[in-house]
Amino acid sequence: MQGLSVEHLLGIKYLNANDIDLIFKTADHFKEVINRPIKKVPSLRDITIANLFFENSTRTKLSFELAEKRLSADVINFSAGQSSVKKGETLIDTVNNILAMKVDIVVMRHGNVGAGVFLSNHVNAKIINAGDGTHEHPTQALLDSYSIREKLGSVKGKKIVIVGDILHSRVALSNIFALQLQGAQVKVCGPTTLIPKYISSLGVEVENNLKKALEWCDVANVLRVQHERMEIKYFPSTREYTQLFGINQEILDNLGKKIVIMHPGPINRGVEITSEVADSDQSIILNQVENGVAIRMAVIYLLAQQIKR
Ligand code: CP
Repeated sequence: MQGLSVEHLLGIKYLNANDIDLIFKTADHFKEVINRPIKKVPSLRDITIANLFFENSTRTKLSFELAEKRLSADVINFSAGQSSVKKGETLIDTVNNILAMKVDIVVMRHGNVGAGVFLSNHVNAKIINAGDGTHEHPTQALLDSYSIREKLGSVKGKKIVIVGDILHSRVALSNIFALQLQGAQVKVCGPTTLIPKYISSLGVEVENNLKKALEWCDVANVLRVQHERMEIKYFPSTREYTQLFGINQEILDNLGKKIVIMHPGPINRGVEITSEVADSDQSIILNQVENGVAIRMAVIYLLAQQIKR
């Protein structure tokens, strides 16, 4: 079997279309496995994985841990808040101490753009980027595309609008790369202040009118306003943001067609999306979470095949 073209998963921009196809086919197999009464396979019994989270996470952290356990890997977990990072230990010292315990694969979330690339140049382990600052979140984009493929049959030719805080989003950039690699059309929609200036250089159109964006698309991927990354005000008030860019059932009912609603989480209910929409049958938000386990099993499995034992 042909393997991945990359040695680490640092970002979607390093992958090609064959890599995505291979990850999806492998995830199909693992999705079948995790729906069996015995949800575990012995594939990675000889592999040790460290999950290093320097930023908060619910879905990604739990999903990686579950994926690793379903593959029978040995797993150690590290959260910066309860570690010696608080005493001033550097990233490299932290990781080298963990690697001294004979770790094969490091899954890392970090607040700094390029933290995964930096690590891959300095340590002898496979690195999986679980989100680096406002840059990339590759496994999220893979599970998002996989969920679109599952719901609509394919990603090719589909029209996807990413709505919300594009500027601070690693999910947006990874999704743009992944969707375009698979032949989808991508637009972004949000306040001008939350759309990065470089976006058109990626072949992405900007639509500032939410109604027009939703009329155009097959799928709306709705993003959270990331207040924690904002040092200045990007829009007058949350109330105004919701009025102009919030997705509610009335807007969807007036479209005259049923679009698919996605959200990577965590959701600000009542801000970028109402509870009614998030919990409706148009929403595939929990399917995304379910698919995250199979996608992460596939990525870990494929990278582990490259490790010489
Ligand atoms: N989607 C996502 O990355 O969620 P968490 O921050 O909870 O991992």
